[in-house]
Amino acid sequence: MAVTIKSPREIELMREAGKILAKVHAGLEKELRPGMTTLEVDRLGEEMIRSFGCIPSFKNYNGYPASVCVSINEEVVHGIPSKHRIIKEGDIVSLDIGVIHKGYHSDAARTHAIGEVPEAARLLIERTRQSFFEGMKYAVAGHHLHEISNAIGAYAEGFGYGVVEDLCGHGIGTHLHEDPEIPNFRQFRRGIKLRPGMTLAIEPMINMGTADVLWMDDDWTVVSEDMSLSAHYENTIVITEGKPEILTLTDTEIEAGIWK
Ligand code: MF3
Ligand code: CO
Repeated sequence: MAVTIKSPREIELMREAGKILAKVHAGLEKELRPGMTTLEVDRLGEEMIRSFGCIPSFKNYNGYPASVCVSINEEVVHGIPSKHRIIKEGDIVSLDIGVIHKGYHSDAARTHAIGEVPEAARLLIERTRQSFFEGMKYAVAGHHLHEISNAIGAYAEGFGYGVVEDLCGHGIGTHLHEDPEIPNFRQFRRGIKLRPGMTLAIEPMINMGTADVLWMDDDWTVVSEDMSLSAHYENTIVITEGKPEILTLTDTEIEAGIWK
C-alpha cells in the first residue's frame, strides 16, 4: 500500500481524534493508583473513549481483547488488562490507546511512574519520551523517514539502553496501521522522502537492558528478554513544511512547552 497524503479535511478530523485521545490519556493518568487492576484501567479508558463518541480501535484488532494496552515494568507493549493484575507502588505502567473518530484514527502511548520509582526508572521514562522529540527534529518535509529512526535510536543508545527492533511505528489514517513502517533504530537506507500531509504514529519502545524481546504465552504481551524495565512513548503527528504538528498532546502539555 502506498503512503497516503491526507487532505486538509482529513487532517482536521485526525486533529480532533488526536485531541480526544490526549484527553483520554490525561484522564487515565489522573486515575492511576496503586491497588488498581489493569482491567479497571481498561474499563475507565473505554468509558472515556466512548464518552467522546469514539470507538476504541484496539478492541478486537487482530483479536486483541481490550481498549487499552497496559504494560507493566518489563512488559514492553500489548499487555492484556486483567482483573488479577494489580498495579503497585514503584511500578512503571505503559498505556497505549487508539481511538477512531469519524472514521479517522489516532494512536498514542505514555509510560507513567506509580508513586516513588527508582531514579533509573524515572530516567528511562524521560529519555524514552525525549527520544521521540529527537526524532521530531527530522520529521520535516524534504527529510527522509529514516532520519527520524536514526535520531531516536542514536539518542537512546547513547544511554546504553536497548532500542526495541521487533516493533515499529507506522503510518495512520483511515486505518490504524498504514504504510510506512517506522523503525526506531539506525537504518542502512534513508527511507521514503517525507511530504506535507503524511500522518505518522511514531513510538519508541526502549528497554533498560537488552533490546531483545519475547512474546508471552497469551500471544500478545511483549516483554524484554532480560526482564529489564521498558518504556514506551507514542504520538500521532502530521508532516508539514516546517516543524511537525503533534496531534496527541493536550493543551496543557503544549502550554507547558513540551513541544515548542
Ligand atoms: N500502538 C500499538 C500499535 O501501533 C497498538 C496496537 S495494539 C493492538 O501497534 F491491540 F491494537 F494490536
Ligand atoms: Co502505534
